[in-house]
Amino acid sequence: MNKPERIIIFDTTLRDGEQCPGATLNIDEKLAIAKQLARLGVDIIEAGFAFASPGDFEAVSKIAQTVGTEEGPVICSLARARHDDIKTAAEAIKGAARGRIHTFIATSDIHLQYKLKKTKSEVIAIAEEMVAYAKTFTNDVEFSPEDAGRSDPEFLYQVLERAIAAGATTVNIPDTVGYTTPSEFGALIKGIKENVPNIDQAIISVHGHNDLGLAVANFLEAVKNGARQLECTINGIGERAGNAALEELVMALHVRRQYFNPFLGRPVESEEPLTNIDTRQIYKTSRQVSSLTGMLVQPNKAIVGANAFAHESGIHQDGVLKNKLTYEIMDAQLIGLTDNQIVLGKHSGRNAFRTRLKELGFELSETELNKAFVRFKEVADKKKEISDWDLEAIVNDEIQQA
Ligand code: KIV
Ligand code: ZN
Repeated sequence: MNKPERIIIFDTTLRDGEQCPGATLNIDEKLAIAKQLARLGVDIIEAGFAFASPGDFEAVSKIAQTVGTEEGPVICSLARARHDDIKTAAEAIKGAARGRIHTFIATSDIHLQYKLKKTKSEVIAIAEEMVAYAKTFTNDVEFSPEDAGRSDPEFLYQVLERAIAAGATTVNIPDTVGYTTPSEFGALIKGIKENVPNIDQAIISVHGHNDLGLAVANFLEAVKNGARQLECTINGIGERAGNAALEELVMALHVRRQYFNPFLGRPVESEEPLTNIDTRQIYKTSRQVSSLTGMLVQPNKAIVGANAFAHESGIHQDGVLKNKLTYEIMDAQLIGLTDNQIVLGKHSGRNAFRTRLKELGFELSETELNKAFVRFKEVADKKKEISDWDLEAIVNDEIQQA
């Protein structure tokens, strides 16, 4: 097994992200997001759960054919550990140059007793058989023991060993209900590295939910202990409190790369990026996902929230004007914002307005643009400076809430 040079970013916005109330996307919207995820540079797109519905199947299949090119990302479909699920997933990803089947079965006592009504040895046998079955369709098979965060570690080691022996090339460790703390999750990954005899034949991946707001912190501890694939979503959308947020993980690994370098297990230049992500596409991707899913981004959200680079207090403003590093740990340009957010005013024309909205990820129709432009002029008359955040509010108020 070739070990990855960088941390692999597996985006599940279109699968786990879409699994949150109200975030349903149609096929064209999914395709548009997948294209943007490819521009962002994610390594793998989990494009959906092909067996879930004909619409999901079609979306995965279209994304596989259109975005899953030779140079593009790997396209993955989720599948329960069942023949029919796996066969449908295989069918959906077959148009991709590189396709992955991600199959899963729960391993925690509570899931075995109440949900699956199966014994531990039955679960091991199913995992082994289904990984081997998935392997008949593609070499790239990922296996997840669902609810690993609450599973008995000794049982987990056995399941993982058998899944790898059956051909899993990635083993993903989900903290399905966001229950673990960073030190516990780090220790879980360490335990897996030390106790699963064939672990070197697979990549260790992590997947986590934000029920206690700890998903990103958990992942960073996992990286320190050997995880090399991170499963995340744009803006952290997903089941319940959501998934680990891609933008937070990527920027933490970027801003603190010198801190994380020693954990990669190979010599790394101090300025070398730890992921393949083009960070300058982050803001645009965040805007696109927010506007297509209708899930607003909270203003104080790290990295992509409206206040993430805004300075309100006099002391902070004074400091930043003297030297930005006093109160900024990263440059706004790094995520694709203009450094100077104060670019449009009452003298600006429609073209500048349209161009900036496009840069921010808003694709408006002519009618919407006209409406937003009228509002922009009204606001510009009252305010000296119109920031990106004002523009976003104008679009949200005038168009998306209409
Ligand atoms: O949260 C979870 O356990 C999942 C699995 C299907 C990986 O989404
Ligand atoms: Zn999940």
